[in-house]
Amino acid sequence: MSGSDRTTYASGFADLDSEVDAAALDVHGDFPTWLRGTLLRTGPAKFDIGSNTVNHWFDGLAMLHRFSFADGEVTYRNRFLRSDTFSRSIEKGSLADGAFATDPCRTLFQRVASVFSPHFTDNGNVNIETFGGEPVALTETLLPVRFDPETLAARGHYPMSKVVGGMVSIAHPHHDAKRGCRYSYVVEFARRSQYRLFAIPDDGSPQRVVATMAVDKPAYMHSFAMTERYLVLTEFPLVVDPLRMMLNLSPFIRNYRWLPERGLRFHVFEKDTGQHVVSRSAQAAFAFHHINAYEAGDDLLIDVVVYDDASIIDQLYLSRLRAGEPVSATGRPTRFTVPLAGDGQVRVTTLADGMLELPRMDYGRCAGKPYRYVWGNGRRPDGLFLDSIVRVDVESGEERTWSADGCFPGEPVFVARPDATEEGDGVLISVVLDARRGTSFLLLLDAISLSDIARAECPHAIPFGLHGCYYPAQ
Ligand SMILES: [Fe+2]
Repeated sequence: MSGSDRTTYASGFADLDSEVDAAALDVHGDFPTWLRGTLLRTGPAKFDIGSNTVNHWFDGLAMLHRFSFADGEVTYRNRFLRSDTFSRSIEKGSLADGAFATDPCRTLFQRVASVFSPHFTDNGNVNIETFGGEPVALTETLLPVRFDPETLAARGHYPMSKVVGGMVSIAHPHHDAKRGCRYSYVVEFARRSQYRLFAIPDDGSPQRVVATMAVDKPAYMHSFAMTERYLVLTEFPLVVDPLRMMLNLSPFIRNYRWLPERGLRFHVFEKDTGQHVVSRSAQAAFAFHHINAYEAGDDLLIDVVVYDDASIIDQLYLSRLRAGEPVSATGRPTRFTVPLAGDGQVRVTTLADGMLELPRMDYGRCAGKPYRYVWGNGRRPDGLFLDSIVRVDVESGEERTWSADGCFPGEPVFVARPDATEEGDGVLISVVLDARRGTSFLLLLDAISLSDIARAECPHAIPFGLHGCYYPAQ
Protein backbone atom coordinates (compact mmCIF):
# COMPACT_ATOMS: atom_id res chain seq x y z
CA MET A 1 0.00 0.00 0.00
CA SER A 2 2.65 2.49 1.05
CA GLY A 3 4.79 1.68 -1.94
CA SER A 4 2.07 2.49 -4.43
CA ASP A 5 0.99 5.55 -2.44
CA ARG A 6 4.52 6.89 -2.72
CA THR A 7 4.23 7.02 -6.48
CA THR A 8 0.58 8.04 -6.53
CA TYR A 9 -0.02 10.85 -4.03
CA ALA A 10 2.68 12.85 -5.82
CA SER A 11 0.37 13.12 -8.83
CA GLY A 12 -1.69 15.60 -6.79
CA PHE A 13 1.17 18.06 -7.25
CA ALA A 14 1.37 17.95 -11.04
CA ASP A 15 0.36 21.11 -12.88
CA LEU A 16 -3.17 21.32 -14.23
CA ASP A 17 -3.16 23.57 -17.28
CA SER A 18 -6.51 22.81 -18.85
CA GLU A 19 -9.56 24.96 -18.21
CA VAL A 20 -12.88 23.34 -19.02
CA ASP A 21 -16.58 24.10 -19.08
CA ALA A 22 -18.07 20.71 -18.50
CA ALA A 23 -21.73 20.04 -19.02
CA ALA A 24 -23.36 17.71 -16.53
CA LEU A 25 -20.78 15.33 -15.03
CA ASP A 26 -21.34 11.59 -15.00
CA VAL A 27 -22.97 10.83 -11.68
CA HIS A 28 -23.11 7.61 -9.67
CA GLY A 29 -25.73 7.46 -6.94
CA ASP A 30 -28.25 10.17 -6.20
CA PHE A 31 -27.33 13.75 -5.37
CA PRO A 32 -30.21 14.85 -3.15
CA THR A 33 -32.59 17.33 -4.74
CA TRP A 34 -32.28 19.60 -1.67
CA LEU A 35 -28.62 20.16 -2.59
CA ARG A 36 -29.09 23.25 -4.75
CA GLY A 37 -26.08 25.53 -4.82
CA THR A 38 -22.43 25.92 -5.73
CA LEU A 39 -19.17 24.72 -4.23
CA LEU A 40 -16.31 27.09 -5.02
CA ARG A 41 -12.80 25.93 -4.26
CA THR A 42 -9.30 27.28 -4.73
CA GLY A 43 -5.84 25.79 -4.56
CA PRO A 44 -2.37 25.90 -6.06
CA ALA A 45 -2.50 24.29 -9.52
CA LYS A 46 0.48 25.58 -11.48
CA PHE A 47 3.94 25.14 -10.01
CA ASP A 48 6.05 25.18 -13.16
CA ILE A 49 6.08 28.68 -14.62
CA GLY A 50 8.21 29.10 -17.71
CA SER A 51 11.40 27.21 -16.95
CA ASN A 52 11.09 27.88 -13.22
CA THR A 53 9.41 25.90 -10.47
CA VAL A 54 8.10 27.36 -7.22
CA ASN A 55 9.57 26.03 -3.98
CA HIS A 56 6.52 25.18 -1.92
CA TRP A 57 2.97 23.77 -2.23
CA PHE A 58 1.57 27.08 -0.97
CA ASP A 59 3.24 29.03 -3.79
CA GLY A 60 1.51 27.48 -6.82
CA LEU A 61 -0.67 29.74 -8.97
CA ALA A 62 -4.30 29.64 -7.90
CA MET A 63 -7.00 27.82 -9.80
CA LEU A 64 -10.71 28.12 -9.04
CA HIS A 65 -13.06 25.15 -9.32
CA ARG A 66 -16.83 25.47 -9.44
CA PHE A 67 -19.23 22.58 -8.85
CA SER A 68 -22.88 23.46 -9.25
CA PHE A 69 -25.70 21.27 -7.98
CA ALA A 70 -29.32 21.32 -9.17
CA ASP A 71 -31.99 18.64 -9.57
CA GLY A 72 -29.51 15.85 -8.94
CA GLU A 73 -27.12 17.06 -11.66
CA VAL A 74 -23.58 18.35 -11.16
CA THR A 75 -21.75 20.72 -13.52
CA TYR A 76 -18.10 21.73 -13.34
CA ARG A 77 -15.91 24.60 -14.49
CA ASN A 78 -12.32 25.56 -13.67
CA ARG A 79 -10.27 28.67 -14.37
CA PHE A 80 -6.96 30.04 -13.23
CA LEU A 81 -7.51 33.03 -10.99
CA ARG A 82 -6.47 35.91 -13.26
CA SER A 83 -4.83 37.87 -10.45
CA ASP A 84 -2.17 40.51 -11.01
CA THR A 85 0.41 38.02 -9.77
CA PHE A 86 -0.84 35.45 -12.30
CA SER A 87 -0.55 37.88 -15.22
CA ARG A 88 2.86 39.17 -14.18
CA SER A 89 4.15 35.62 -13.59
CA ILE A 90 3.00 34.21 -16.93
CA GLU A 91 4.49 37.20 -18.73
CA LYS A 92 7.76 36.91 -16.84
CA GLY A 93 8.02 33.11 -16.96
CA SER A 94 8.55 32.80 -13.21
CA LEU A 95 6.73 33.71 -10.02
CA ALA A 96 6.61 37.50 -10.18
CA ASP A 97 5.77 38.46 -6.60
CA GLY A 98 7.23 37.29 -3.32
CA ALA A 99 5.23 34.40 -1.93
CA PHE A 100 5.25 32.05 1.06
CA ALA A 101 8.54 30.26 0.37
CA THR A 102 9.47 31.47 -3.12
CA ASP A 103 10.80 34.90 -3.88
CA PRO A 104 11.68 36.46 -7.19
CA CYS A 105 15.40 37.02 -7.53
CA ARG A 106 16.06 40.42 -6.10
CA THR A 107 19.06 42.39 -5.04
CA LEU A 108 19.35 43.91 -1.61
CA PHE A 109 18.58 47.28 -3.12
CA GLN A 110 15.39 45.95 -4.71
CA ARG A 111 14.40 44.34 -1.42
CA VAL A 112 14.75 47.60 0.47
CA ALA A 113 12.96 49.48 -2.32
CA SER A 114 10.11 46.98 -2.23
CA VAL A 115 9.47 47.86 1.40
CA PHE A 116 8.44 51.28 0.21
CA SER A 117 6.66 50.25 -2.96
CA PRO A 118 5.67 46.65 -2.46
CA HIS A 119 4.11 44.34 -5.00
CA PHE A 120 2.30 42.06 -2.61
CA THR A 121 1.07 38.80 -4.04
CA ASP A 122 -2.65 38.52 -4.79
CA ASN A 123 -2.43 34.84 -5.77
CA GLY A 124 -5.61 33.78 -3.96
CA ASN A 125 -4.83 30.09 -3.66
CA VAL A 126 -5.75 29.53 0.00
CA ASN A 127 -9.46 30.16 0.54
CA ILE A 128 -12.75 31.47 -0.83
CA GLU A 129 -14.60 33.90 1.42
CA THR A 130 -17.46 36.36 1.09
CA PHE A 131 -16.68 40.05 1.51
CA GLY A 132 -19.54 42.53 1.20
CA GLY A 133 -21.78 39.84 -0.27
CA GLU A 134 -19.45 38.72 -3.08
CA PRO A 135 -16.99 35.85 -3.27
CA VAL A 136 -13.30 36.65 -3.04
CA ALA A 137 -10.20 34.48 -3.38
CA LEU A 138 -7.72 34.99 -0.57
CA THR A 139 -4.08 34.45 0.14
CA GLU A 140 -2.18 35.79 3.13
CA THR A 141 -2.04 39.42 2.04
CA LEU A 142 -4.77 42.04 2.04
CA LEU A 143 -5.51 41.83 -1.68
CA PRO A 144 -8.76 39.85 -1.92
CA VAL A 145 -9.51 39.08 -5.58
CA ARG A 146 -13.19 39.38 -6.51
CA PHE A 147 -14.48 36.97 -9.08
CA ASP A 148 -17.67 36.10 -10.89
CA PRO A 149 -19.12 33.01 -9.19
CA GLU A 150 -20.60 31.82 -12.52
CA THR A 151 -17.76 32.40 -14.99
CA LEU A 152 -14.90 32.49 -12.42
CA ALA A 153 -13.54 35.61 -14.18
CA ALA A 154 -11.51 37.86 -11.88
CA ARG A 155 -12.99 41.30 -11.19
CA GLY A 156 -10.19 43.21 -9.49
CA HIS A 157 -9.55 43.68 -5.80
CA TYR A 158 -12.10 44.08 -3.05
CA PRO A 159 -11.56 47.59 -1.64
CA MET A 160 -9.75 47.58 1.69
CA SER A 161 -9.73 50.62 3.92
CA LYS A 162 -6.42 52.40 4.52
CA VAL A 163 -7.05 52.28 8.27
CA VAL A 164 -6.47 48.52 8.19
CA GLY A 165 -3.02 48.74 6.58
CA GLY A 166 -0.59 45.95 7.35
CA MET A 167 1.45 43.67 5.12
CA VAL A 168 0.42 40.15 6.05
CA SER A 169 -3.06 38.88 6.75
CA ILE A 170 -4.91 35.56 6.82
CA ALA A 171 -7.24 33.61 4.56
CA HIS A 172 -9.45 32.41 7.43
CA PRO A 173 -11.62 35.30 8.61
CA HIS A 174 -14.51 34.47 10.97
CA HIS A 175 -18.11 35.35 10.25
CA ASP A 176 -20.25 36.79 13.03
CA ALA A 177 -23.83 36.50 11.79
CA LYS A 178 -25.21 38.39 14.81
CA ARG A 179 -22.98 41.40 14.29
CA GLY A 180 -23.17 41.24 10.49
CA CYS A 181 -19.46 41.21 9.83
CA ARG A 182 -16.36 39.14 9.35
CA TYR A 183 -13.32 39.49 11.58
CA SER A 184 -9.74 39.14 10.44
CA TYR A 185 -6.35 40.63 11.27
CA VAL A 186 -3.19 41.96 9.74
CA VAL A 187 0.39 42.19 10.88
CA GLU A 188 2.11 45.51 10.31
CA PHE A 189 5.89 45.16 10.22
CA ALA A 190 7.60 48.29 11.49
CA ARG A 191 10.00 49.55 14.12
CA ARG A 192 7.00 48.99 16.39
CA SER A 193 5.16 46.10 14.75
CA GLN A 194 1.51 45.55 15.45
CA TYR A 195 -1.24 42.94 15.28
CA ARG A 196 -4.40 44.66 14.13
CA LEU A 197 -7.80 42.95 14.32
CA PHE A 198 -10.44 44.43 12.05
CA ALA A 199 -14.04 43.94 10.94
CA ILE A 200 -15.35 43.60 7.37
CA PRO A 201 -19.06 44.55 7.38
CA ASP A 202 -21.38 42.26 5.39
CA ASP A 203 -23.11 45.29 3.86
CA GLY A 204 -19.95 46.34 2.01
CA SER A 205 -19.29 49.43 4.12
CA PRO A 206 -15.65 50.26 4.99
CA GLN A 207 -13.64 48.06 7.30
CA ARG A 208 -12.93 49.25 10.84
CA VAL A 209 -10.13 48.44 13.26
CA VAL A 210 -11.36 46.52 16.32
CA ALA A 211 -8.21 46.11 18.41
CA THR A 212 -4.45 46.49 18.17
CA MET A 213 -1.49 45.03 20.00
CA ALA A 214 2.17 46.02 19.81
CA VAL A 215 4.54 43.13 19.14
CA ASP A 216 8.34 42.96 18.87
CA LYS A 217 8.57 39.68 16.99
CA PRO A 218 5.35 38.87 15.13
CA ALA A 219 4.35 35.22 14.85
CA TYR A 220 3.26 33.32 11.76
CA MET A 221 -0.43 32.64 12.33
CA HIS A 222 -2.66 31.09 9.66
CA SER A 223 -5.95 31.44 11.54
CA PHE A 224 -7.37 32.63 14.86
CA ALA A 225 -10.23 31.87 17.26
CA MET A 226 -13.62 33.51 17.76
CA THR A 227 -16.21 33.01 20.47
CA GLU A 228 -19.50 34.89 20.86
CA ARG A 229 -17.83 37.81 22.68
CA TYR A 230 -14.11 37.42 22.05
CA LEU A 231 -11.43 37.23 19.37
CA VAL A 232 -8.31 35.28 20.31
CA LEU A 233 -4.90 35.40 18.64
CA THR A 234 -3.04 32.15 19.25
CA GLU A 235 0.57 33.23 18.97
CA PHE A 236 2.78 30.31 18.04
CA PRO A 237 6.51 30.56 18.77
CA LEU A 238 7.38 30.76 15.05
CA VAL A 239 8.42 34.39 14.97
CA VAL A 240 10.26 36.93 12.86
CA ASP A 241 12.49 39.90 13.48
CA PRO A 242 10.86 42.47 11.14
CA LEU A 243 14.06 44.43 10.53
CA ARG A 244 15.99 41.31 9.61
CA MET A 245 13.22 40.27 7.26
CA MET A 246 13.37 43.56 5.40
CA LEU A 247 17.12 43.26 4.92
CA ASN A 248 17.23 39.52 4.31
CA LEU A 249 17.00 38.05 0.83
CA SER A 250 15.20 34.89 1.95
CA PRO A 251 11.58 34.16 1.01
CA PHE A 252 8.91 35.17 3.54
CA ILE A 253 8.59 32.10 5.76
CA ARG A 254 12.35 31.41 5.79
CA ASN A 255 12.75 34.50 7.95
CA TYR A 256 10.73 32.97 10.79
CA ARG A 257 12.47 31.17 13.65
CA TRP A 258 11.09 28.39 15.87
CA LEU A 259 11.67 29.56 19.45
CA PRO A 260 9.86 27.02 21.65
CA GLU A 261 11.09 28.68 24.84
CA ARG A 262 8.58 31.46 24.11
CA GLY A 263 5.73 28.96 24.54
CA LEU A 264 2.28 29.42 23.10
CA ARG A 265 0.45 32.65 23.90
CA PHE A 266 -3.27 33.34 23.76
CA HIS A 267 -4.21 37.01 23.44
CA VAL A 268 -7.90 37.62 24.15
CA PHE A 269 -9.74 40.72 22.89
CA GLU A 270 -13.34 41.77 23.45
CA LYS A 271 -15.19 42.22 20.14
CA ASP A 272 -17.41 45.09 21.17
CA THR A 273 -14.87 47.25 23.03
CA GLY A 274 -11.59 46.17 21.44
CA GLN A 275 -10.23 45.81 24.97
CA HIS A 276 -7.31 43.41 25.49
CA VAL A 277 -8.80 41.18 28.18
CA VAL A 278 -5.95 38.86 29.05
CA SER A 279 -2.93 36.97 27.67
CA ARG A 280 -2.19 33.41 28.78
CA SER A 281 0.70 31.03 28.06
CA ALA A 282 0.99 27.31 27.41
CA GLN A 283 3.62 24.88 26.21
CA ALA A 284 4.99 25.51 22.71
CA ALA A 285 3.00 24.16 19.77
CA PHE A 286 2.32 25.02 16.15
CA ALA A 287 -0.86 25.01 14.10
CA PHE A 288 -2.34 26.21 10.86
CA HIS A 289 -6.00 25.78 11.75
CA HIS A 290 -8.32 26.54 14.59
CA ILE A 291 -11.38 24.30 14.70
CA ASN A 292 -13.80 26.24 16.90
CA ALA A 293 -13.88 28.07 20.23
CA TYR A 294 -16.52 28.95 22.78
CA GLU A 295 -17.13 30.39 26.21
CA ALA A 296 -17.79 28.16 29.22
CA GLY A 297 -18.19 30.20 32.41
CA ASP A 298 -14.91 32.03 33.02
CA ASP A 299 -13.06 29.84 30.53
CA LEU A 300 -12.55 29.94 26.81
CA LEU A 301 -12.35 26.53 25.16
CA ILE A 302 -10.15 26.87 22.08
CA ASP A 303 -9.86 23.87 19.77
CA VAL A 304 -6.88 23.77 17.43
CA VAL A 305 -5.18 21.21 15.16
CA VAL A 306 -1.85 21.11 16.96
CA TYR A 307 1.62 20.00 15.83
CA ASP A 308 4.58 19.54 18.17
CA ASP A 309 6.58 22.07 16.15
CA ALA A 310 6.63 23.88 12.81
CA SER A 311 8.39 21.12 10.82
CA ILE A 312 5.16 20.50 8.88
CA ILE A 313 6.02 23.64 6.86
CA ASP A 314 9.32 22.06 5.76
CA GLN A 315 7.59 18.81 4.84
CA LEU A 316 5.39 20.63 2.31
CA TYR A 317 8.18 21.83 0.03
CA LEU A 318 7.28 20.88 -3.52
CA SER A 319 10.38 18.80 -4.28
CA ARG A 320 9.53 16.50 -1.36
CA LEU A 321 5.88 16.21 -2.36
CA ARG A 322 6.65 15.54 -6.01
CA ALA A 323 9.04 12.79 -4.88
CA GLY A 324 6.29 11.25 -2.76
CA GLU A 325 8.24 11.68 0.47
CA PRO A 326 6.25 10.94 3.63
CA VAL A 327 4.50 13.89 5.24
CA SER A 328 4.76 12.51 8.74
CA ALA A 329 4.08 15.56 10.95
CA THR A 330 0.89 14.84 12.83
CA GLY A 331 -1.79 17.40 13.60
CA ARG A 332 -4.04 16.44 16.50
CA PRO A 333 -7.33 18.08 17.48
CA THR A 334 -6.50 19.64 20.83
CA ARG A 335 -8.50 21.68 23.33
CA PHE A 336 -6.94 24.56 25.24
CA THR A 337 -8.98 25.67 28.24
CA VAL A 338 -7.94 29.29 28.70
CA PRO A 339 -9.13 30.91 31.93
CA LEU A 340 -10.16 34.55 31.83
CA ALA A 341 -9.88 34.71 35.64
CA GLY A 342 -8.03 32.89 38.42
CA ASP A 343 -4.48 31.54 38.30
CA GLY A 344 -4.25 31.66 34.55
CA GLN A 345 -3.22 28.04 34.12
CA VAL A 346 -4.09 26.81 30.60
CA ARG A 347 -5.27 23.19 30.47
CA VAL A 348 -4.50 21.09 27.38
CA THR A 349 -6.57 18.07 26.31
CA THR A 350 -6.24 15.93 23.18
CA LEU A 351 -9.70 15.49 21.64
CA ALA A 352 -8.95 12.41 19.54
CA ASP A 353 -6.12 9.97 18.96
CA GLY A 354 -5.86 10.28 15.21
CA MET A 355 -4.48 12.84 12.79
CA LEU A 356 -6.76 15.59 11.49
CA GLU A 357 -6.18 18.51 9.14
CA LEU A 358 -8.23 20.93 7.06
CA PRO A 359 -10.93 20.96 9.78
CA ARG A 360 -14.52 21.95 9.02
CA MET A 361 -17.54 22.16 11.27
CA ASP A 362 -21.25 23.00 11.13
CA TYR A 363 -20.22 26.64 10.99
CA GLY A 364 -23.60 28.26 10.45
CA ARG A 365 -24.99 26.59 13.56
CA CYS A 366 -21.96 26.32 15.84
CA ALA A 367 -19.33 29.01 15.11
CA GLY A 368 -18.18 30.42 18.44
CA LYS A 369 -20.62 28.16 20.32
CA PRO A 370 -20.57 24.72 21.94
CA TYR A 371 -20.39 22.02 19.29
CA ARG A 372 -19.86 18.32 18.87
CA TYR A 373 -18.47 17.45 15.44
CA VAL A 374 -15.37 18.32 13.47
CA TRP A 375 -14.63 16.87 10.03
CA GLY A 376 -11.29 16.89 8.31
CA ASN A 377 -8.69 14.84 6.47
CA GLY A 378 -6.76 12.11 8.21
CA ARG A 379 -3.77 9.94 7.43
CA ARG A 380 -4.01 6.21 7.81
CA PRO A 381 -1.31 4.43 9.87
CA ASP A 382 0.67 3.44 6.76
CA GLY A 383 -0.18 6.60 4.84
CA LEU A 384 2.26 9.11 3.42
CA PHE A 385 -0.13 12.02 2.92
CA LEU A 386 -3.70 13.00 3.79
CA ASP A 387 -5.64 9.98 2.57
CA SER A 388 -8.95 9.82 4.40
CA ILE A 389 -11.93 11.77 5.68
CA VAL A 390 -12.44 11.78 9.42
CA ARG A 391 -15.28 12.79 11.68
CA VAL A 392 -14.42 13.38 15.34
CA ASP A 393 -17.00 13.66 18.10
CA VAL A 394 -15.20 16.15 20.36
CA GLU A 395 -17.43 15.22 23.31
CA SER A 396 -16.66 11.49 23.28
CA GLY A 397 -13.45 11.32 21.23
CA GLU A 398 -15.13 8.83 18.90
CA GLU A 399 -13.72 8.88 15.36
CA ARG A 400 -15.15 7.62 12.11
CA THR A 401 -13.17 7.34 8.88
CA TRP A 402 -13.79 7.10 5.13
CA SER A 403 -10.99 5.94 2.85
CA ALA A 404 -10.42 4.08 -0.40
CA ASP A 405 -7.18 2.62 -1.75
CA GLY A 406 -5.33 4.97 -4.06
CA CYS A 407 -7.69 7.86 -3.24
CA PHE A 408 -6.69 11.15 -1.66
CA PRO A 409 -9.62 13.28 -0.52
CA GLY A 410 -9.42 17.02 0.00
CA GLU A 411 -11.04 19.18 2.65
CA PRO A 412 -14.56 17.88 3.43
CA VAL A 413 -16.97 20.81 3.27
CA PHE A 414 -20.06 20.40 5.44
CA VAL A 415 -23.40 21.42 3.92
CA ALA A 416 -26.40 21.45 6.24
CA ARG A 417 -29.73 20.15 5.03
CA PRO A 418 -31.96 23.23 4.60
CA ASP A 419 -34.47 22.06 7.22
CA ALA A 420 -31.88 20.63 9.62
CA THR A 421 -32.68 20.94 13.31
CA GLU A 422 -29.56 19.22 14.65
CA GLU A 423 -25.83 19.76 14.29
CA GLY A 424 -24.34 17.55 11.58
CA ASP A 425 -27.60 16.92 9.70
CA GLY A 426 -26.31 17.23 6.15
CA VAL A 427 -23.60 16.08 3.79
CA LEU A 428 -19.86 16.38 3.24
CA ILE A 429 -18.52 17.32 -0.17
CA SER A 430 -14.91 16.48 -0.98
CA VAL A 431 -12.83 16.57 -4.15
CA VAL A 432 -10.98 13.24 -4.24
CA LEU A 433 -7.95 12.43 -6.37
CA ASP A 434 -8.18 8.86 -7.62
CA ALA A 435 -4.50 8.43 -8.32
CA ARG A 436 -4.89 4.96 -9.78
CA ARG A 437 -7.20 6.19 -12.52
CA GLY A 438 -5.48 9.59 -12.87
CA THR A 439 -8.69 11.59 -12.40
CA SER A 440 -10.60 13.23 -9.58
CA PHE A 441 -14.17 12.80 -8.49
CA LEU A 442 -16.53 14.75 -6.30
CA LEU A 443 -17.60 12.66 -3.32
CA LEU A 444 -20.78 13.15 -1.34
CA LEU A 445 -20.97 11.51 2.09
CA ASP A 446 -23.53 11.47 4.86
CA ALA A 447 -21.92 13.76 7.44
CA ILE A 448 -22.68 11.60 10.47
CA SER A 449 -22.22 8.04 9.18
CA LEU A 450 -19.63 8.93 6.48
CA SER A 451 -21.45 6.49 4.20
CA ASP A 452 -21.29 7.10 0.44
CA ILE A 453 -24.25 8.90 -1.12
CA ALA A 454 -23.05 9.79 -4.61
CA ARG A 455 -20.09 10.68 -6.84
CA ALA A 456 -19.56 12.86 -9.89
CA GLU A 457 -16.65 12.18 -12.26
CA CYS A 458 -14.37 15.14 -12.99
CA PRO A 459 -12.86 15.53 -16.46
CA HIS A 460 -9.27 15.59 -15.15
CA ALA A 461 -7.07 15.15 -12.08
CA ILE A 462 -7.42 18.17 -9.80
CA PRO A 463 -4.24 19.07 -7.86
CA PHE A 464 -4.62 18.98 -4.08
CA GLY A 465 -6.52 22.11 -3.15
CA LEU A 466 -6.71 23.99 0.09
CA HIS A 467 -10.10 25.47 1.00
CA GLY A 468 -13.50 26.36 -0.40
CA CYS A 469 -16.99 27.51 0.33
CA TYR A 470 -20.52 26.31 -0.44
CA TYR A 471 -23.17 28.83 -1.51
CA PRO A 472 -26.80 27.68 -1.39
CA ALA A 473 -28.86 28.75 -4.40
CA GLN A 474 -30.93 31.85 -3.69
FE1 LIG B 1 -5.90 27.10 5.81
